[in-house]
Amino acid sequence: MAVRLVYTLAPYSLQNNDVADIAHKKIVLGVTGGIAAYKAAELTREFARNGIEVQVVMTEAARALVAPATFQALSGRPVFSDLWDARADDGMAHIELSRGKDAIVVAPATGDFLAKLANGLADDLLSTLCLARECPLIVAPAMNRQMWDNPATRRNLEQLRRDGVAILGPASGDQACGEVGMGRMIEAREIAEAVIGSLAPKLLRGTRVLITAGPTFEPIDAVRGITNRSSGKMGYAIARAALDAGARVTLISGPVSLAAPAGAEVTRVETAAQMFEAVKRNVAHAGIYIGVAAVADYRADRPRRDKIKKTDRSQLELQLVPNPDILAWVAARPRPPFCVGFAAESHNLNANADQKRRRKKVQLMVANLAQEAIGSDDNEVTLLDDQGTHRLARAPKTAVARQVIAHIAKLYGAWRRKAG
Ligand code: CTP
Repeated sequence: MAVRLVYTLAPYSLQNNDVADIAHKKIVLGVTGGIAAYKAAELTREFARNGIEVQVVMTEAARALVAPATFQALSGRPVFSDLWDARADDGMAHIELSRGKDAIVVAPATGDFLAKLANGLADDLLSTLCLARECPLIVAPAMNRQMWDNPATRRNLEQLRRDGVAILGPASGDQACGEVGMGRMIEAREIAEAVIGSLAPKLLRGTRVLITAGPTFEPIDAVRGITNRSSGKMGYAIARAALDAGARVTLISGPVSLAAPAGAEVTRVETAAQMFEAVKRNVAHAGIYIGVAAVADYRADRPRRDKIKKTDRSQLELQLVPNPDILAWVAARPRPPFCVGFAAESHNLNANADQKRRRKKVQLMVANLAQEAIGSDDNEVTLLDDQGTHRLARAPKTAVARQVIAHIAKLYGAWRRKAG
């Protein structure tokens, strides 16, 4: 009888895990005095939700726009503004606050603040921290379109780029002043995504990863079909996490209303048959295959081109035929990639998922309770592989995805060494 080794029963903690993740990262979030300062509150929350420790530093002008108490509550830490704040060790806030940090993010960064940075001025806590930093600096500009177009701002940005400062945005659109044009700060979620991407360890650098996501839609007639409630959020989060880990990602997506992850090569499909064809076209070069899609197991035998009319018969029979099992097909190839499946179960989670893992002959099965995962922004998953089971704590799908990718990277390295 085979003995299964359970190597941990405790859930991974987002704050304290040994897998390479961004959860233990620390940043300074600088907030300057633009109207977009209110968006920095959402950004603080976004970082905190992903387990990143945020130290907020505000300029005087920012304090006139948003109360520091908001940031204190969202970050769980006191907010600093004063160069000589006695709460910092040695009274050296400008050195102390950026020590051991992984990045300084300034959002919003006003035209005035960019000018200071470009010229190395240091006349308040935030500008002094930026000048005295040892870590990367990332800025998200926000200003009126004329300020943005001004040659002085263009010069400053050029200088900042040359100095190695990462610049996120701005975007074009409605401005607080009532005008329309370039200069709006990009959304908090986009800033968080970019910062997390830059902080993430490059565990899969250069590896080609093929991912399926979302539901499939199997037509019955011209207007009806069989589908399921998969939102695609988990698959897209996996694609994002793989990209952030340095992978080259091909994403084959069923019908979802999500924006394509920047940097992925995306093929949109509708039916399981189309998904299968797209997988066949892309699988040869993949080092890793991750089937997150909720593929319909059956399709209508003969979908009708026209719309089926209602009749007075009391029953309508629909003949269904099975779809191919894409994951099992990929795993059965002569030289298969490292294969990962996602098992959606309604009960007996671990036993059913492990059975599925063995039946489909895949290296890793990620199990989740369908009723809890579908449509939600959070997920709680268990990883099942040859070594045993590994339960991850409930967390946003983006954070879960990074842990799943870190686990895959670890197993993939060992699997490749074994395969020679
Ligand atoms: N899968 C697939 N092709 C199918 C069905 C499933 O590639 N026709 C993949 C999914 O992408 C997922 C894994 O198989 O990675 C498990 O999917 P799931 O729907 O949980 O399993 P099924 O094999 O369909 O089993 P059941 O629906 O009976 O639970």
